[in-house]
Amino acid sequence: MYLLGFESSCDETAASVLEVTDGRFVIRSNIVASQIEIHRRFGGVVPEIAGRAHIEAISRITEEALSTAGVSLSDIGCIAVTSHPGLIGALLVAVNFAKALAVSNEIPLVEVDHMKGHISAAYLTETPPAPPFIAMAVSGGHTSIYEVKDYTDYTLIGSTRDDAIGEAFDKIGRLIGIPYPAGAGFDALAREGFQKATGRETDFWDAYRASPAYRSPAYHLPSPAVMGDNLDFSFSGLKTAAINLLHRFEQTGEAFDRAAFAAAYTYEAVEAVAKKLDIALSRHPGYPLVVSGGVAANSHLRARLKTLADKHGTTLCLPPVSLCGDNGAMIAAAGYYEYLAGARADAHLGARASDE
Ligand code: KG4
Ligand code: ZN
Repeated sequence: MYLLGFESSCDETAASVLEVTDGRFVIRSNIVASQIEIHRRFGGVVPEIAGRAHIEAISRITEEALSTAGVSLSDIGCIAVTSHPGLIGALLVAVNFAKALAVSNEIPLVEVDHMKGHISAAYLTETPPAPPFIAMAVSGGHTSIYEVKDYTDYTLIGSTRDDAIGEAFDKIGRLIGIPYPAGAGFDALAREGFQKATGRETDFWDAYRASPAYRSPAYHLPSPAVMGDNLDFSFSGLKTAAINLLHRFEQTGEAFDRAAFAAAYTYEAVEAVAKKLDIALSRHPGYPLVVSGGVAANSHLRARLKTLADKHGTTLCLPPVSLCGDNGAMIAAAGYYEYLAGARADAHLGARASDE
């Protein structure tokens, strides 16, 4: 069967045709219209502008997804759309578009939780994991750990108590001159910092971690892992400490090493994720680990997670970078399992900003 997946929860308008044969997925098209250029000059996503841009893009994106896949609407067996969480004015665009298509063409419609969508990107890889497993979604708006008991049964077992990891990279990145979204630029700058500190071109993480001498006290930052036997994070403390550190350098006029700072900041963010996932995997021996979402593109996080999975003797599934950011294929994959479970949405489907 073919599914048509829609996504418009933030600043990407996306549509994808996903083919499913005997439970195996083939991405026939995955079209993403990014609004990054539009929002860049504001330093972040402007919700009102995002909604308008989705409206302008969605018809074109849908036609492109269908034509690239070589199918027409009459071939589509199910339409899947992100209904929550996200920016309400943004979500409503794909929800209403999907409803109109589904109702007028009598195609079954399912709603998808954006976070389940991110994690379902794992099912689009060559060796898809099978539940149960531990999954983490790291994105601009979320830092959440789940016990995935079944394809549609997720239990939230840890999350951020305030800001998300991606937002923490974007906000502080902006302050050190990296354009929005700062994730990829931060990643590259931190690499320079790790290389300079350790004198190693590659495989610097373990050395940096093992030797406090590589970590200059001038760039010391607090861990965003909440103390104790929980799986929670607090990125606002890390952000505030980073802002204070930047002010101190500004006030004293001391030479500021952007790369050393980016490395120290990345180190704390990545180690906090590794620390909490270490606890989660210890509580669920043998469970595979899935990490997805925009921040799962971070090269340092990817390398650190490999070491963590090896320590636990388990498999790690990191979707390719192209599927880590917002896209329609991941929504179609999550939607397929909702469809199999019998979930159906109708013309009354609405959008919700919150996780529930
Ligand atoms: O999942 P996503 O595309 O959208 C949301 O649902 O939020 O995630 C976007 C986030 C942004 O904060 C962006 O800076 C971050 O993912 N990001 C990265 C990297 N690439 C993108 N963060 C760290 N390192 C990266 N290489
Ligand atoms: Zn997302």
